[in-house]
Amino acid sequence: MKGIILAGGSATRLFPLSKAISKQIMPVYDKPMIYYPLSTLMLAGIREVLIISTPHDLPMFRKLLGTGDDLGMKFEYIVQEVPNGLAQAFVLGADFLAREPGCLILGDNMFHGQGFSKMLKEAASIENGACIFGYYVKDPRAYGVVEFDDRGKVISLEEKPEKPKSNYAVPGLYFYDKTVTQKAKALKPSARGEYEITDLNKCFLEEGSLKVQLFGRGFAWLDTGNCDSLLEAGNYVETIQNRQGFYISCIEEIAWRNKWIDNKQLESLGRKLDKTAYGRYILSLIEY
Ligand code: G1P
Repeated sequence: MKGIILAGGSATRLFPLSKAISKQIMPVYDKPMIYYPLSTLMLAGIREVLIISTPHDLPMFRKLLGTGDDLGMKFEYIVQEVPNGLAQAFVLGADFLAREPGCLILGDNMFHGQGFSKMLKEAASIENGACIFGYYVKDPRAYGVVEFDDRGKVISLEEKPEKPKSNYAVPGLYFYDKTVTQKAKALKPSARGEYEITDLNKCFLEEGSLKVQLFGRGFAWLDTGNCDSLLEAGNYVETIQNRQGFYISCIEEIAWRNKWIDNKQLESLGRKLDKTAYGRYILSLIEY
């Protein structure tokens, strides 16, 4: 399984600064936003990752993340010239995927909760079909929405419906088998002119091979699309980290726990940041 992070547009809904900065490089509390989706892929056991972004933002990601070597990973980069839909990620990423199964995560989606790694590993082992997720929200109108029958079988998927048929939003995390590229290439643009991820998911639904896993109460799926949600996400990370002492989405720690890097490599990554609490946290891991 290979991974794709779609780190789309700049911070248009966030600050007057939006022309100058990339949204996904902005910090959520103590680390760049893109560390959160990257860590999700890493927890799924995915080592090869393609980062897709705008011509303006891509060089910043390259500078921040490099080749991936120091994490025992491999990063590639590709520009999306026009933001014309999430499903395009699989067309742009066709050579990268090279007919392997692929996981897509959006650059501004954050996930955190007990049992998440296990769910990710299960989803990443999919050989036939697709695995997506459902999350109960108060107002699902801004999302893809999934509807179930009485026995929990998926009966419909709709993108940003005005009258949602359920409260279950589909988060920006999708696992697909190797047919995904071919299916993405065959999609037609929607009424808003985008190649919709929901249409791609519908292909699997129609085939009878779509699995939807629900995240339960207490699980955190946060987005960072406006100033309020960005601050809320930062406060969430600060609260959990300071209470427990475990860091959320410390990519160096995950690479080390996955045994992709050894103690020595971890220590050298920590040393580079030893003026920060983040760096000292990395160094403290080796002492245990
Ligand atoms: C996209 C998808 C939508 C999904 C959402 C998750 O919406 O189109 O189906 O629920 O991401 O964040 P967008 O970010 O384009 O509004």
